Amino acid sequence: MEISLVLNGKPITVEAPAHITLLELLREYLELTGTKEGCDIGECGACAVIMDGMLVNSCLVLAPQAHGSTITTIEGLCNADGSLSDLQENFITYGAVQCGICIPGMIVAAEALLAKHPTPTREEIRQALIGNLCRCTGYQQIVDAIEATAYARRHLAESVARA
Ligand code: FES
Ligand code: FES
Repeated sequence: MEISLVLNGKPITVEAPAHITLLELLREYLELTGTKEGCDIGECGACAVIMDGMLVNSCLVLAPQAHGSTITTIEGLCNADGSLSDLQENFITYGAVQCGICIPGMIVAAEALLAKHPTPTREEIRQALIGNLCRCTGYQQIVDAIEATAYARRHLAESVARA
């Protein structure tokens, strides 16, 4: 079947079988391999994407359900020139990346949080990441990176408002 959607800001149409998941559509038909396959049963968050403003595990969404939707993947979260975003840079700066399998999902979940709640507490950050499992970092550095990004964005917005 034909599936049309807005993917990372661009309208696309792709021909794919109706029984595959959105995760398979992204990775195998659209070659967007930044979205990771972990558990494949909705428990780890490695496959998280933003669909119509909501954080979803793409392994639990059938590809036809994405028809007509707007989807942002990890590839859509870098800067317009292709460089790493402030949040992505902070994951590196704060040592929040080890094996890396969970990181795209973590960053997508963090951006979904910051879009709705630009000034979260550490506890709110932890709550927002409850569906994203990391076996390596112990989460502390991940929370540090998100908190630092929220802080820097808030200060930037305040300086722009004052200018
Ligand atoms: S791969 Fe989708 S939640 Fe784990
Ligand atoms: S960095 Fe390895 S699972 Fe999170």
